[in-house]
Amino acid sequence: MTTNDDAGKTEILMPRPMAPRVIEQLDARFTLHRLWEVDDADAFIAQHASRIRGVATGGGASGRVDKALIDALPALEIVSSFGVGYDHVDAAYAGTKGVVVTNTPDVLTDEVADLAIGLLLATLRKLPQADRYLREGRWLEKPFPLSPTLRERKIGILGYGRIGKAIARRIDAFGVEVVYHGRREQADAPHRYYADLAAMARDVDTLIVITPGGAGTEKIVDSRILEALGPEGVLINVARGSVVDEAALIKALHDGTILSAGLDVFDKEPQVPQELIDMDHVVLLPHVGSASVHTRNAMAQLVVDNLLAWFDGKPPLTPVPETPSPR
Ligand code: 8YV
Repeated sequence: MTTNDDAGKTEILMPRPMAPRVIEQLDARFTLHRLWEVDDADAFIAQHASRIRGVATGGGASGRVDKALIDALPALEIVSSFGVGYDHVDAAYAGTKGVVVTNTPDVLTDEVADLAIGLLLATLRKLPQADRYLREGRWLEKPFPLSPTLRERKIGILGYGRIGKAIARRIDAFGVEVVYHGRREQADAPHRYYADLAAMARDVDTLIVITPGGAGTEKIVDSRILEALGPEGVLINVARGSVVDEAALIKALHDGTILSAGLDVFDKEPQVPQELIDMDHVVLLPHVGSASVHTRNAMAQLVVDNLLAWFDGKPPLTPVPETPSPR
């Protein structure tokens, strides 16, 4: 059974499985079409398209809401997307068609900022390596080698949105200087702004990437930026793999152009280049920035609540900026 076709209910399409609490609540209120259970997705969409008014998606390749899907759904009113990043949804195109797109900001800000700090410290102080060292019994032979430090570093944040600011506030508490680069200088920001990313990379030794993915930021951290970061340089990426030129990063880590990296995101998740896996001087996480039970529940609820609000005739709770002026 792919649907619970109660006559008269609003119809929602879910391209791939989402959290049980999303599915249960949408099932209770709507007719939920589970596209991943269907043999021929295109034929299924064509058959139901005229009645599908909402899409709930969690991203990833099979959760993509692109021009083709938007065009295939003439009755579409809203795309409720899981995650603060929505590079898997063509929100600009949806906007031109009057389709609202919502994401799940705010509820994950502190969680992702906490993780960024954890990854920063883990990378600098080599915590995973130290853990492996102890387990391998090597402490019995000699102490773990001394690590690099956060002390006296200067940190550049690429992307000074809600999460970027939350990371900067946390770094302030460590007594370490923070500066930022983003599309524009922000009024009343307590941190110095760099209009030019390369200039910031030259002046700092640690770069934390927390800017949205998508075409506008694709590979903006390239070999030139990594060279500017320099031999003591540490790159932390908790944004999207697409923001960093992964091949250039691997080369920079091999050559000693930069010191190390802490990566929560990759270009072709869940595939991680073997070159990175083979390196002992990097820390690699399986995209867990927001992945606590507490925060994922809050994100899931916001996906549901946006759909409930919209189909109750209310404004969406968290529309993205590209979305047409909500009701
Ligand atoms: C989620 C994220 O893990 O919110 C985001 O943009 O990257 C993460 O919080 C991701 O969206 C899950 O699909």
